[in-house]
Amino acid sequence: MNNKTELIKKILELKKQHDALILVHNYQLEEVQDIADFLGDSLDLSKKAAQAPQKTIVFCGVHFMAETAKILAPKKIVLLPDINSGCPLANMITKKDIFDLKKKYPKSTVVGYINTPAEIKSEIDYCCTSANAVHVVQSIGSENIIFIPDKYLGAYVKNVTKKNLILWNGFCPTHVKILEKDITKLRQSYPKAKVVVHPECTIEVQNVADEIAGTAGMIKFVQKNQDTEVFIIGTEVGMCYRLSKLFPEKKFIPASKLAICPNMKKNSLEKILWCLQDLQPQIFVEEKIRIKAYESIKKMYKITENIE
Ligand code: 13P
Repeated sequence: MNNKTELIKKILELKKQHDALILVHNYQLEEVQDIADFLGDSLDLSKKAAQAPQKTIVFCGVHFMAETAKILAPKKIVLLPDINSGCPLANMITKKDIFDLKKKYPKSTVVGYINTPAEIKSEIDYCCTSANAVHVVQSIGSENIIFIPDKYLGAYVKNVTKKNLILWNGFCPTHVKILEKDITKLRQSYPKAKVVVHPECTIEVQNVADEIAGTAGMIKFVQKNQDTEVFIIGTEVGMCYRLSKLFPEKKFIPASKLAICPNMKKNSLEKILWCLQDLQPQIFVEEKIRIKAYESIKKMYKITENIE
């Protein structure tokens, strides 16, 4: 038995012993994707965490995702194999920034991307993900909407909904590595390819794409385009592995090989094993913050339950 097979065997034993579920985001390492009980985008993973009958969740993603699982399932043990897998975008806005924004735009509604810490979620009105940001914003009656923290997702939502959103200057350092010229060059090499990019990409990149979608939307886009053989994927490179496994007959090319999220790649098989051996590192959220943060997520579910 080689080292990897041995590791997986031990993980499966401990998983059973601790009644654990392994949730894995689409950007995780291939070896981590391969042992997932459930693979998905931020929205689907949050729903799975809330509904799962298991007592323990091993969350293979970044910190805000595991924290969202804990907000939704406070009685469960939520483990993040590498506690240092943060999200720089999530940390681009502070509680004070939100207070200042509310003071500057007193009658506004605050919509916050799921890529935020619990403390920020506890100060917003509505949470949203890349899969439902347009629907959440569209459903809000008020014309004064502050959208935080991703300015590119915000600009995309603003463009689709035609609402006058007030944007924050946050961005994902991985997605901004994808450039318009990368896509133009790939289109020359693969003229029949379809291009799908994440709404965290820059506006220039969004403007040259055939479709703008979160990672779950990318899967739907490929499903819809049955006659297309080659897809150029404008997001973190891990998504190409996910798509290749789902659609082995098609070719998926990363829009940029530089779009690697160093935080998403921190969780490994070894760290999954260790976290199941020690039941550490665990995610905790202060109850006062959790209750408020939960409200913003619940409002998102309420708006989107009929459209997904
Ligand atoms: P998705 O919800 O589309 O998977 O996006 C998550 C994310 O963090 C993108 O950087």
